[in-house]
Formats: sequence, C-alpha cells, structure tokens
Amino acid sequence: MLHKSTALALFTICLTVTHARPSGGSLYPRVAVDAVVAGNAAVAQAVPIDRTGWTVTADSYQPGNEPSNVLDGNTGTFWHTEYSPTNAALPHNLTIDLKALYWINGLSYLPRQDGSSNGNIGQHIIQLSADNSNWVTVATGTYLNDASLKQTLFASTHARYVRLTAQTEAQGAGNPWTKINLHDGSGKSSYSPPPTSLGQWGETIDFPIVPVAAVVLNTGKVLTWSSFEANSFSGGGGLTQTATYDPSTGIVSQRTVTNTGHDMFCPGLSIDASGRTVVTGGNNDLKTSIYNPASDAWVSAANMNITRGYQAQVTLFDGRIFVIGGSWSDGTASKGGKNGEIYNSTTNTWTELPGCPVAPMLTQDAQGVYRADNHGWLFGWKNGFVFQAGPSKAMNWYGMAGSGTQEAAGNRGDDADAMNGNAVMYDAVNGKILAIGGATSYQDTTATSNAHIITIGAPNTTATVTTIGSMVYARGFANSIVLPDGKVFIVGGQKYVEPFSDDTAVYYPEMWDPTTQKFTTLNPMYTPRTYHSVALLLPDGTVFSGGGGLCGTCTTNHFDAQIYSPPYLFNTDGSRATRPKITSASPTSIKVGGSIVVATDSAVTSFSLIRQGSATHSVDTDQRRIALTPTGSGTSYTVAVPSDPGIAIPGYWMLFALTSAGVPSLAQTILVTL
Ligand SMILES: *[C@@H]1O[C@H](CO)[C@@H](O)[C@H](O)[C@H]1NC(C)=O
Ligand SMILES: *[C@@H]1O[C@H](CO)[C@@H](O)[C@H](O)[C@H]1NC(C)=O
Ligand SMILES: *[C@@H]1O[C@H](CO)[C@@H](O)[C@H](O)[C@H]1NC(C)=O
Ligand SMILES: *[C@@H]1O[C@H](CO)[C@@H](O)[C@H](O)[C@H]1NC(C)=O
Repeated sequence: MLHKSTALALFTICLTVTHARPSGGSLYPRVAVDAVVAGNAAVAQAVPIDRTGWTVTADSYQPGNEPSNVLDGNTGTFWHTEYSPTNAALPHNLTIDLKALYWINGLSYLPRQDGSSNGNIGQHIIQLSADNSNWVTVATGTYLNDASLKQTLFASTHARYVRLTAQTEAQGAGNPWTKINLHDGSGKSSYSPPPTSLGQWGETIDFPIVPVAAVVLNTGKVLTWSSFEANSFSGGGGLTQTATYDPSTGIVSQRTVTNTGHDMFCPGLSIDASGRTVVTGGNNDLKTSIYNPASDAWVSAANMNITRGYQAQVTLFDGRIFVIGGSWSDGTASKGGKNGEIYNSTTNTWTELPGCPVAPMLTQDAQGVYRADNHGWLFGWKNGFVFQAGPSKAMNWYGMAGSGTQEAAGNRGDDADAMNGNAVMYDAVNGKILAIGGATSYQDTTATSNAHIITIGAPNTTATVTTIGSMVYARGFANSIVLPDGKVFIVGGQKYVEPFSDDTAVYYPEMWDPTTQKFTTLNPMYTPRTYHSVALLLPDGTVFSGGGGLCGTCTTNHFDAQIYSPPYLFNTDGSRATRPKITSASPTSIKVGGSIVVATDSAVTSFSLIRQGSATHSVDTDQRRIALTPTGSGTSYTVAVPSDPGIAIPGYWMLFALTSAGVPSLAQTILVTL
C-alpha cells in the first residue's frame, strides 16, 4: 500500500455507523477498514492474513446491514448501525476477532462506494487487544470525508481483537462500509518489538488532510494544513484545508479557511514574536495570512510586494519578518530576482530590500532559477542580521539596515549545493548549526549523507565550517529536530530525491550526538516520510513526524503522523523513565536577559529552551536550542535567558529541565519578549 513492495489484497468489510442528527434524515456512513499485520520488524512490510474463521460484532446494526457484511469481501454490502425505526446514537464500535494472535500494524477503512457520503466516519479511535479486555489505543484522529480507502499504519502490537470506534460522522454521513485487509504474519510469532534504547514509535494520528505544513502553537496544539484540497495542490487558490491536533485529547479538528482568500500551499512560514503563525505566498503568491492561537482566527495582512512560492522566511531579533527567494510561484518559465523584503506587523507593511539580493544564494539547479532560490536555510541573528546557511554551498549574511545589505560568509566547507537538506541551530549561544544531507538539484538526483558544523559569530564575518563524519544514510526531503538534550533527531527523506515517490525512502531515523559528533541508527518508522513530510518537537519531548505526498490520486499520500519517543524517555530495562516535573516557573513571560525561577519535584542538572517550531518542505527557521546553566540545587533553580535577542529570538519557547541521565520534563511554555 504505502510502500512499493507491499502488495495488498483487499477484502471488503461493510460496516455502517449511524448517529442521530439534530435535524434532517438518517445518516448513512459506509466505512472500510483495511488492517495490516506486520510479519516482522521491517518497516511497512505487510503480508496478507487468512481471514478464515474471523468473526465481527458491533454495538448496533440495521437488519440487512449486519456487521458480518464487513467480512464478506463484497464492496456492495456493508454494515450499518440502526437507523430505523430509531437512529442509534454515536459513538459506535466494531470489533473483529481474528481468532489468533498476530503482530498487527495497520488498519484500513473503505467508505461506502455507492456515491453517498452519509455515515462516513470522521473522528475515530483504533484499539487492539489480546484478550478482549485490555485495550491499547494505537491510532486516533479524523478521516477525510470522501470515498477513498483510508489506511493507517501504527506500531506493531500483539493482538487478536481489532476495534474501530467511530466518534463522529465525517459530514452528514451515516452508512459506513468497512473494509478490512489483514496481512499475515509470516513472523506472527517470530517478531520481537524493537528495543526502546533506540526509541519507540507510538500512536498514529490520522488527519483528514496530508499535513504538508505544521506548527507547534503556544497552546500545545499542532496546526497543520495542505492546500486548497486535502490531497493535491495543483490548480488551487483562494482557500486552505487545515487540521489541528490536540495532543491532550488526541482529537483532530478540521477547518477550511476561506476568509483570507489564501491557498497557503508552499508558503513562507515562521512564528512571530507574539506566537502568531505568519504565512506568506504559495499558491496565492502575494498573500500574507496570520493565525492567532489566542483568538483561534485567521486574518489577512498586507500583500508582499514580490510574488513568491517556496521562499524562505524567518522571524528576526526585533520581531520583524524577512523573506527571500521563491520563484516556484512563477512556474518553470521563472523570472527570478526574488530579492529580500521585510514585514513590520505594527505598520502591517512590507518593504522591499534591494540591498538583499537573492543572486548570491542561488543553487546550480538542473531546473534553473525556478528551483535555485527555493527553501533557503535562514537564521535570525544579532543586530537584525540573517545568516543564510544553505542550501547553496555559498553562505551569506543579509543585513536589514537601510535598503538592506549582503556580505558573503564563505562556502559550506567542501559541501555541494544541498537543496532539501536540513540545517538546525542546536546551540544558539555558541552559534552552532548542524547541516545535513540534501541534493545538488531539487529532484531526480542522488542525495548526500554529508554533515557539517557551521559556527557563526559576528555578522558579516566568515563562518567556520567543520566537515564531520557522514550520516548513516544519504537523504533529501528529511526533517531534523533538536531535542532538549542537544542531540539532533533526523527523520525520513529519500536517497534519490523524487517528489511524490516513496522509492528509496529512508525508514531508519538517526540521532546525532554533538559530543561525539557521530550519527547512530534508531528504530525504523512504519510509514515513509519523503517529499512534503514534516516533523516537530512537541512540548512533551516527543517528536511529531507526519505527512508526505499531496499528489492527488497517487499512492504516496500520507494522511497521518506518528509520535516518536526518543531513547531519553526510557530506562535501560525498556521501561518508561520517571520524568522530572517543573512544578512552577516565574515569570513565564520574560524579557531577554531576565531570569526565571524554576521549582522542580526532584533534582535536575540542566535546562534548555527550544523555540516552538514550524515545518514545511524540510525547513524550520523557528526551532533553535539554548542550553541554560542553572544555579541552585535540590528542587529550586534559577536560569538566565540570554540578553541578545538575536540569540533568544522573541516568541514562545519550551523550557525543559533534565536529569543527570538526560530525561527531560514536560516543557513549561515561556514567552521571551524584548
Ligand atoms: C461499544 O458500544 C456499546 C454500545 O454503545 C457500548 O456498550 C460498549 O461499551 C462499546 N464498547 C466500547 C469498548 O466502547
Ligand atoms: C515598525 O514600524 C513602527 C512604525 O514605523 C516603528 O515604530 C517600529 O520600530 C517598527 N518595528 C521595528 C521592529 O522596526
Ligand atoms: C511596493 O511595490 C509598489 C509597486 O507595486 C511600489 O510602488 C512600492 O514602492 C513598493 N514598496 C516598497 C516599500 O518597496
Ligand atoms: C556588512 O556588510 C555589508 C556589505 O559589505 C555592509 O554594507 C554593511 O555596512 C556591513 N554591516 C556591518 C554592521 O558590518
């Protein structure tokens, strides 16, 4: 299904979920569920299971639409909860008994195929059980309301029973069809769960869109969007499909944003000094839209002066926002010349900066300037300067004085152009950036495993570059996340970069240790995350890794994300580590240079601040880490925020306390102000 080598034999199971609508007629959802059983630890490997003897039960059904319809292999029949004489109320559940234990790692659901969307499942929970008594939740989320097969891969779990609970109808739908496809386990008893010393892939979150852009909000929720459509981007305009995941409830809510008239696919993206998400250009190439978590509302801001798509965008030390590049919006007959401009939210104005030319940061892309000025690696720095670390091998300083300035910062060592590689400021105080992977052209070329440390100091001075040992895997289109302990988690990507293909996907994440400067391989993921995938550090110290695709009716759309728990959350015996708690922090809104008094429930040895991140197209200009050296002991500490706003960029940060073993607390949200 998701992986090319995986052949799926689909069997139709028909199930109907109905709920009472406040007004109007009965609801007719069809739901198709396709379950996949992993044979072994190999990622995305799925082998069909013989379904002989399976049984299925449901909380409700309409005579003629029995639950057993979901096992009959016929897409023309389906299970339907009772709608006559009464509409059975939501939630509804369907439980399948496989009659034997399997390592199950997937479930698919096929909505009704008869043209009606009544009864399609929206919000749902997938749970597994070995004994029909103790249930483990392996996935939650919301399905898109259409007739396409919904496929969810999740962490392999040893179970006999599979339960799908429908919490809402997707959109006035009532008759669900369920299609279940279970893939057998050649290794149904030989599989052993991967060691937690290499981290653990946990719950899967189903989205009603392909999450191509994602932002951690100061509320702890994750805002995502695709394009004007849930599964494709071309020919769009004027609106955006968004979905928001709330980790505290597991609920994914859906919203179509029309009021800004902005299709925010392939945008510039950064979080401003007050925690608002600022989105520029893309399918509507002049527009600016701003999402305010406090009001849960999108508003339009001033148009940019230059059309842009795939530009780079970064929030500066004074809260202004700089953009540069972005010829994608002009199509392949591109015009280039996408020099810098800057946004002031107080005046709601964009000002062109002709002194910040894009030419010095162009790559030598095979497709020309249409690609050469895409996805710049920008870092806000001291005195309002921006450091551009890539993807061109040439690095540059952009200054905001007057009509802008530009100064070369040297080449990125022996690296080549590294389009769709990653750059992560893992140590902002010391100006340290890890740069990895990427390819000389945007697509149809081999990615590298190159790794460099870039050290920046005073603006306008040449950066110091150290070539370090390579990543284990070559990759472009990956995402890299700095963790509270300063290590960098590298996830997804492809060895041969090819948009909308999962061929040569890298399933094994890596961890880079800044002390040893070495990369180590971690437990593989279940779903390939290649072009259009995202990753973010969540305030609980786990990583959200999702998306990939957005190619219409292609087979590489990934309407989901999965949560990865890094090794620091486990003891050596595999059990969950006890986490220290931040019991209070004061103040939680702090001027640069100020101190925060932190109380913990147990002794800790270090603290760090990580700015809340935003991710799209392998770029996250918001995340960066500041290591804090505490004074104090026991359960009472004081930490000082750096005084330079070029290091402590204003906005929302996550404050973590760590034990001597490196186990992080949940984050305390801190607003850094000027
Ligand atoms: C399934 O639905 C029935 C009927 O509403 C309910 O009694 C039962 O508790 C549900 N099971 C679960 C596990 O939610
Ligand atoms: C934004 O513009 C206002 C009005 O001109 C000015 O007072 C303010 O300093 C500007 N902000 C920045 C960060 O330059
Ligand atoms: C923006 O573009 C308009 C023309 O479209 C021009 O008149 C104006 O001067 C530009 N503004 C800036 C600040 O460059
Ligand atoms: C940085 O370099 C640019 C280009 O040489 C120059 O115009 C600018 O004055 C310099 N700024 C500082 C602060 O050094």
